[in-house]
Amino acid sequence: TKVKPTIIIILGATGDLTWRKLIPAIYNLWLDKWIPDEFAVIGVGRQENTGNEFQKHLREGLDKFSRRGESKKNDWDQFEKCLSYQSGDFNNVSTYRAIEKQINLFEKKWKVTANLIFYLAVPPIFFEEIALKLGSSGLADNKLQSRIVIEKPFGHDLESAKHLNNLLHTIFDESQIYRIDHYLGKETVQNILAFRFANALFEPIWNRNYIDHVQITVAEQLGVENRGNYYETAGALRDMIQNHLLQLLCLVTMEPPVSFEADEVRNRKVDVLNALRKIRPEGVRQFAVRGQYGAGWIKGKKAKGYREENDVSKDSTKETFAALKLFIDNWRWQGVPFYLRTGKRMNETNSVITIQFKPVPHQSFPPEATGYWQPNRLVLNIQPHMGIRMRFQAKRPGLTMLLYPVDMQFNYNESYTSGTPEAYETLLLDIMEGDSTLFMRSDQVEAAWKTLMPVINSWDRNPSVNFPNYEAGTQGPEDAEALIAKDGHSWIVMPQE
Ligand code: BG6
Repeated sequence: TKVKPTIIIILGATGDLTWRKLIPAIYNLWLDKWIPDEFAVIGVGRQENTGNEFQKHLREGLDKFSRRGESKKNDWDQFEKCLSYQSGDFNNVSTYRAIEKQINLFEKKWKVTANLIFYLAVPPIFFEEIALKLGSSGLADNKLQSRIVIEKPFGHDLESAKHLNNLLHTIFDESQIYRIDHYLGKETVQNILAFRFANALFEPIWNRNYIDHVQITVAEQLGVENRGNYYETAGALRDMIQNHLLQLLCLVTMEPPVSFEADEVRNRKVDVLNALRKIRPEGVRQFAVRGQYGAGWIKGKKAKGYREENDVSKDSTKETFAALKLFIDNWRWQGVPFYLRTGKRMNETNSVITIQFKPVPHQSFPPEATGYWQPNRLVLNIQPHMGIRMRFQAKRPGLTMLLYPVDMQFNYNESYTSGTPEAYETLLLDIMEGDSTLFMRSDQVEAAWKTLMPVINSWDRNPSVNFPNYEAGTQGPEDAEALIAKDGHSWIVMPQE
């Protein structure tokens, strides 16, 4: 392992993220020997310390959520030795002194200075206070060996994101800051770069001359679950598009990087965000659609409407669905529409990027041969199905010439037998190794907010009067169909398997 002696300090250690994602990911890295012997996790939370309750709770989560299933007793007993708990209030200086004391004990035992990773697994209202306290307590500056990890949402709009960036930059160097977008850690998402830039075949046609339009769909069957409080302040645009979908868009459209140095890749990505055509306030209706789910059916079971969910206001005007049409004003993409959509309580859980190519320039086949003809499509399946599918026309076997679409397919499950790591495994290892390629730089976050501000402002100022406008378990509101239909297209649903 390239990882130096490390202590991860998780602030918000009794929360859901730690339980479901962080500890299972750290445990898998530990099992696979990516983690050095000099390693510790200090969980910090407001709950009182009660013996080894903390460790017990974490093991329960691990057994439930790890991709490997239940832990073996011997392994866990070993791993557990890395875990300790520190109770304390995030606003209180004494908490940081106690953390420092624990760090000193480890360093003394190991006889090294450890890399310190402060992971803020807390609601965003705590970000500033914690960062300030890390600064004033001196924990932020052991010769750049401290790193801070910030979960989304990074800001609530452009102004607050700028404010948070400025504040962090008074305490940390940009190279110490890791802003997480967990989509970037997904195997299939990282594979977009491999597919585009490790093959000679696709890049020459990856532009406005051959590509008709691109669709990015991130559909979820899940509702807001127990996150009503957060979701009421966010909505689909802030929760998903500002980060995950715009990052997918960047990966699909960025120019080839000269190298995989973190800043080279991030420069190419931010170029895309900076080239996005500004949506004018009067154009919002034309380029953006919002929706909110009402009651309906999911997998044969009755599902509540958004307004009936816990912690959601009875007349909430938050969007649980958003669709956008975007243009990228540069040489490669001029005139090519990009359609993005995401929603909760949709008919299926499916994240997919579809690249539709232009029709053939001349149809040589007679009309009776081309009844089923379709344009070429390249489908990047992100999840739950993982793979790539290329649709093209072939002659259907028979005595007449009949063209029919068929697929060439690459499936992860067929090509690889070993399991794929979870996004958080990839990202945590990168943080430990000090590789920030897959993390959001300050200018990316701000550029993404900037793109969306006209839509956010318009929606905030003019709350929708026709919510709920789609039933749980459907494809979203009709307006989303209209958004794409007016350009002569439709949302493409391709078979997944
Ligand atoms: C999170 C959003 O960032 O991503 C959630 O806050 C959403 O609302 C989740 O459900 C989706 O992530 P995944 O990995 O399940 O696609």
